[in-house]
Amino acid sequence: MKIALASDHAGFELKETIKEYLTEHELIDFGSHSTDSMDYPDTGFKAAEAVARSECERGILICGSGLGMSIVANKVKGIRATLCNSVELARLSRKHNDSNILVLQGRFISHNLAKKIIKVWFSTEFDGGRHQRRIDKISRYEKGEK
Ligand code: RB5
Repeated sequence: MKIALASDHAGFELKETIKEYLTEHELIDFGSHSTDSMDYPDTGFKAAEAVARSECERGILICGSGLGMSIVANKVKGIRATLCNSVELARLSRKHNDSNILVLQGRFISHNLAKKIIKVWFSTEFDGGRHQRRIDKISRYEKGEK
């Protein structure tokens, strides 16, 4: 799977750990490339747009709290970005929300927990059914339809 990765300075170290962990996927790293202070929208929008354009199948975005990257990613049409700080939320974000971008907290979870979250996020399928109906309503809203 082709995966878009992006962080700011507060997510840089976890992004590097993830790059070592996700060896079975093709990773496109949109930065940041150091712990020097930078603005999360600069990398987050690029990665989210790559997913929205289907250049990447999914994305993982990381900032300090996960909040900024969540806001950025969910501004991009077609993105369903989910901030997950537990394995159970990762599971639900795939089963119920068909999450296509996982957002992680660089400053609030261990790298070990992040790996567990990522493993479940990749291995859990979308349930469809009533959840597809709900996602269709979001898609229609994005298109300006009722
Ligand atoms: C950076 O200090 C921090 O504000 C950022 O990583 C993120 O948490 C913003 O939402």
